[in-house]
Amino acid sequence: MEYQAKELFAKHGVAVTAGEVATTPEEAQAAAERMGTCVVKAQVKAGGRGKAGGVKLAKTPEEARQHAEAILGMEIKGLTVHRVLIAPAASIEEEYYFSFLLDRANRRYLCIASVEGGVEIEEVAKTNPDAVKQIAIDPGTGVDEAKAREIVAEAGFPDVLTDQAVAMVQSLWTVFTEEDATLVEVNPLARLAGDTLEALDGKVSLDDNADFRHPEHASFTDEAAADPLEAKAKEKGLNYVKLDGAVGIIGNGAGLVMSTLDVVAYAGEAHGGVTPANFLDIGGGASAQVMADGLDVILGDEQVKSVFVNVFGGITSCDAVANGIVGALDILGDDATKPLVVRLDGNNVEEGRRILDERNHPLVTLVETMDGAADKAAELAHAAK
Ligand SMILES: Nc1ncnc2c1ncn2[C@@H]1O[C@H](COP(=O)(O)OP(=O)(O)O)[C@@H](O)[C@H]1O
Ligand SMILES: [Mg+2]
Repeated sequence: MEYQAKELFAKHGVAVTAGEVATTPEEAQAAAERMGTCVVKAQVKAGGRGKAGGVKLAKTPEEARQHAEAILGMEIKGLTVHRVLIAPAASIEEEYYFSFLLDRANRRYLCIASVEGGVEIEEVAKTNPDAVKQIAIDPGTGVDEAKAREIVAEAGFPDVLTDQAVAMVQSLWTVFTEEDATLVEVNPLARLAGDTLEALDGKVSLDDNADFRHPEHASFTDEAAADPLEAKAKEKGLNYVKLDGAVGIIGNGAGLVMSTLDVVAYAGEAHGGVTPANFLDIGGGASAQVMADGLDVILGDEQVKSVFVNVFGGITSCDAVANGIVGALDILGDDATKPLVVRLDGNNVEEGRRILDERNHPLVTLVETMDGAADKAAELAHAAK
């Protein structure tokens, strides 16, 4: 959220228009009394808040209270506003755009800068592409003062701002590297009356692979906005992404699970257009507990009408997986309520199938091929709708 991004900015010396966070109209009013003319800004992890009516100027504390009352509880891009930032109203002369991001395709970093900021940069890129400058950054050398000068010159910031801009670019680079970010964005980076530069808005995406280096980043997680199923899966250490369909998917290995999503979506076309309900990779070692955790999350999804368990026995052999499924169904007991289509192949498949046949669980259907199993799962999901 903006106020959190600004905390990170301030920590590394970037000039920001800070402010105070309020969760009630009364708190907003009190903050405005200390601040004078201010803006009331919705705090959600989404851009375009201004356009959505989530950024409002307040000339008096009473007005700040009214705006906060209207903005708190508002929905912006599907996210409910639980807090507002009360920030001093800035006298803006010009609005610029600035960002550092990870450029995966080219295996380096990228700086995007434009003197036409304040609006959506994707729009500027369409209507006036020349105004959006892209400057490649070598990850080996990063952004030193010379590189910062090159960036500022290329971006075309006015001369009076050059030194400030160079310092700010270097500070933003420090935010990007020290915090292990994949995106640091300032829009608008504002030229204020008196020719000072300030970050009026901020957005930071943090690389969660580096979380172990930043225990303090845990406080940025927005528990209220997280999908409850995804939160539950995360708690259990599962790689789960909620999707919109009716066929729950469990597989081992990200590649196999991705293919399974495709195959199910395709099979679904013949069964009322049903689609996958989730991505779930249980990885290697499909123990009964991991299988039970995975099934538990998927069965907790009201949209799920059938589940497709698609496992290729490699390092983990099929008999271990079959025991995992049987064990999971025993652990879940009456909580297992939806039909399971299982396809096993690979290492020790005969024994795996024998274990499932022998258990003969009423919810489980074994199908030999991936296409056949996808079709069966889609058919069952459609029939249950
Ligand atoms: N502190 C402020 N003072 C004056 N105007 C502001 C302030 N913060 C934002 N604005 C104005 O509101 C616009 C939108 O705010 P911003 O924080 O960029 O939200 P978003 O990008 O989500 O729409 C900015 O481009 C700027 O013109
Ligand atoms: Mg903005």
